[in-house]
Amino acid sequence: MKGDTSFELTLRPLSLDEYIGQDRVKEQISLFIEAAKRKGEILDHVLISGPPGLGKTTLAQLIASELGRNIVFASGPLLEKKGDIAGILSSLEEGDILFIDEIHRLNPSVEETLYPAMEDFKIDIVIGKGSASRSVRIDLPKFTLIGATTRAGMLTSPLLSRFGILLSMDFYDIHSLKRIILRSAGILQIQISPEAALEIARRSRGTPRIANRLLKRVHDYAVVHGNGTVDRETAVEALDFLEIDENGLDPTDRKYLQILVNRYGGKPVGLNTISSALSESKNTIEEVIEPFLIREGYIQKTPRGRIPTEKAFEVVKKFEK
Ligand code: ADE
Repeated sequence: MKGDTSFELTLRPLSLDEYIGQDRVKEQISLFIEAAKRKGEILDHVLISGPPGLGKTTLAQLIASELGRNIVFASGPLLEKKGDIAGILSSLEEGDILFIDEIHRLNPSVEETLYPAMEDFKIDIVIGKGSASRSVRIDLPKFTLIGATTRAGMLTSPLLSRFGILLSMDFYDIHSLKRIILRSAGILQIQISPEAALEIARRSRGTPRIANRLLKRVHDYAVVHGNGTVDRETAVEALDFLEIDENGLDPTDRKYLQILVNRYGGKPVGLNTISSALSESKNTIEEVIEPFLIREGYIQKTPRGRIPTEKAFEVVKKFEK
């Protein structure tokens, strides 16, 4: 479900003022940035949580640029050994921002190295081998860790408790998405009507990454079937062609709901069963597909499995018409 990065890069806002939506998060972080500047201190460690595609990485970049600091990027699951994180930490300079994506997927030994680094700006490294080895504590420059996660609930409590600033991002409302689409269309020089932008916004699952991707595909459709201008009618036709329905559900979402409703008749269904029926990884199901279905009230997670709501029964009836 990831969009093409080169396309996204040019669409990324370059300052917090240009960043549309997430007003609460923006107000909070702006205040903490201002306070850090006035106190002449580095910003406390920040955890950004929320579903994929909402702009967690973009927000981290904007925090770095508002502070006028360098940012170094790392990915939780790619940091395999203690040495990987120790190497990155010891190359930081005073005030740098270290961004770790998917921080809930750190290996335990990497995570343990982070604790003293976050708390006291120190790491313990082992020098030498076998009986001659000894552990030495080295000082690090003061830095700010920004962690991003799609699953705040999966962070261990020692890691979670070391973040001083917790920012929680939620799906965007339709009006913010419409503004993002109009802004992106301006950058990409796509002619689009406000009604068409609203139609794409409605079907973008509350997610700017999806909105920007749909904008590009709808434009392709308009280039082939019309003169390239996107009006409401073209947008609706293009979105139907892309198999995104009026609720923003895509073929995988529809299949997911059909499994719960038709195959299991509303009885609780386990994640493993859904994963094999859809041929999607459990991670993708939990992190990408389900958050939107839960938020829109199609399904509920219970200790015995996933159950469809009344709304899911109704929508499945509609697909089958
Ligand atoms: N492009 C993608 N996400 C955006 C946002 N939140 N604001 C402005 N442009 C964006």
